[in-house]
Amino acid sequence: MAVILKTPGEIELMDRANRIVHQVLDEVGAMIAPGVTSRELDRLAERVIRGAGGVPAFLNYRGYPATLCISVNDVIVHGIPCDVPLREGEIVGIDCGVFYKGYCGDAARTFAVGEVGPDAKRLLQVTEEALRLAVAQVRPGARLQDIGWTVQRHAESHGFSVVREFTGHGVGTSLHEDPQVPNFGSPGKGKKLQPGMVLAIEPMINAGKCGVKMDADGWTARTEDGSLSAHFEYSVAVVPTGARVLGTDRTI
Ligand code: MF3
Ligand code: CO
Repeated sequence: MAVILKTPGEIELMDRANRIVHQVLDEVGAMIAPGVTSRELDRLAERVIRGAGGVPAFLNYRGYPATLCISVNDVIVHGIPCDVPLREGEIVGIDCGVFYKGYCGDAARTFAVGEVGPDAKRLLQVTEEALRLAVAQVRPGARLQDIGWTVQRHAESHGFSVVREFTGHGVGTSLHEDPQVPNFGSPGKGKKLQPGMVLAIEPMINAGKCGVKMDADGWTARTEDGSLSAHFEYSVAVVPTGARVLGTDRTI
């Protein structure tokens, strides 16, 4: 399937959608503490989204039952909010999607619950750095696999591994559009990036091996070896001057 290019006006609307996403991540992040449940975080997110005139993009997507994906410790992505309280020392991935005026925003961050150990801290730091380094590759004329190669190299140079089963993706009037944006690859390979492409870039990095296992709920994806996993995501527009991280004031 073909990549759908967006006009500058459409990119502005996607920026608005992503502003709501980042507002949710800010507010949910501020509420994360020992004793809080992921269901409480999910309710807060839905209230913020609807209050801003948006619609949760994940809710009912292929039957997904919540507004956020909330992925604790060894959960890589797509954890379903529940009534288990968060505990000091855990790490919690918050992934949020919002439709605003027909356009989708999609972003994620992984937070520490209270004080976390040095290994968890390093995983969070390396995963966030991988996202920033990947975004720095984005400009007209760069190649799609430059993104995945950058993520993979950064993760593996710290002894971590990248997940193969889930990828980033194009985003627009649908949550998932072409192309897929893997977190691995070779430099200089893949489609040429051009202005108007909007990519959700989302490194998922495991502290241990890259294997994935699924829970019986059909959504929750965990590390096979039980190691911690972290996930950060931005929706990024390719613009003539380079990249624009939608919903933030960051241009790279
Ligand atoms: N950011 C994730 C993704 O792009 C979230 C999708 S969750 C789902 O795949 F529930 F909507 F599937
Ligand atoms: Co995504």
